[in-house]
Amino acid sequence: MKNDESIRKLRDFLKENIRKGTDFSQSDQSLGYPMPPVEKPLEEGQKAQPLPEWRGAITLDNDVAGLIGRRQSARRYPDKPITAEELSFLLWATQGVRRIKGERVMRNVPSAGNRHALETYLALTKPAITRDGQAFSAGLWRYLPLEHALVYQGSPGNLQDKVAQAAMGQTFVGQAPVVFIWSAIPYRMEWRYLHASHKEIALDAGHVCQNLYLAAEAIRCVTCAVAAYDQKEADGLLGLDGEDEFVIYMAPVGRAREA
Ligand SMILES: Cc1cc2nc3c(=O)[nH]c(=O)nc-3n(C[C@H](O)[C@H](O)[C@H](O)COP(=O)(O)O)c2cc1C
Repeated sequence: MKNDESIRKLRDFLKENIRKGTDFSQSDQSLGYPMPPVEKPLEEGQKAQPLPEWRGAITLDNDVAGLIGRRQSARRYPDKPITAEELSFLLWATQGVRRIKGERVMRNVPSAGNRHALETYLALTKPAITRDGQAFSAGLWRYLPLEHALVYQGSPGNLQDKVAQAAMGQTFVGQAPVVFIWSAIPYRMEWRYLHASHKEIALDAGHVCQNLYLAAEAIRCVTCAVAAYDQKEADGLLGLDGEDEFVIYMAPVGRAREA
């Protein structure tokens, strides 16, 4: 295994040699093709459901050193839902928009070249209710960062089982009240960086999930990064084509257990 050629080849993904060999003058951006949309457009008939304001509605622990020091992965979740205000905060923290300047949409997480090639889907195994009783029903949703809203994607039966199956049989994933599932739309990055795009997308995803860990900790919730998943099952669950958009990472979120 130590000198296995196939493993050594795969290590190249982590290196940045590809940048020198890439002719960026041939990128679609350089050739004048329009920038791909920063957010996947709604399909016909889909309607955005605005997320509630979280500021003033939830109690935040603002002790950054404490949050960083306490963060840990958790795989057991009490049988309690997450409120819609909490969900609103977690989505803001992971993919929310910080500032819009012309075509430039800046988010709360960094991204190589500000390309932001990720979409966020939620598998809600329990409804998330707002303070005034509005429900985001159980099922699959997609986050719309520009509108800070969710769009309903449908509700396959046995969602818990399907999510666990998509997570390669890791049953704890399906037991969380909400599972964040991130997909990549690689063209958003390739439009500028061509062959040098793919490691950047993976690095971007790490930043997003780390914000989820810390934001969850700030509201007495917990999460666990999950990269061991079944590509076909996960893409199938979300109805993704697996080429132009596919799942790259997931993270179940639940309430912290009482000490
Ligand atoms: C990229 C990545 C992938 C991971 N994938 C899984 C996974 O599929 N299943 C799982 O139970 N934990 C997964 N984890 C969680 C790690 O096991 C966990 O971070 C590690 O054991 C250290 O524990 P800590 O997060 O509590 O410090 C993953 C973590 C990362 C960063």
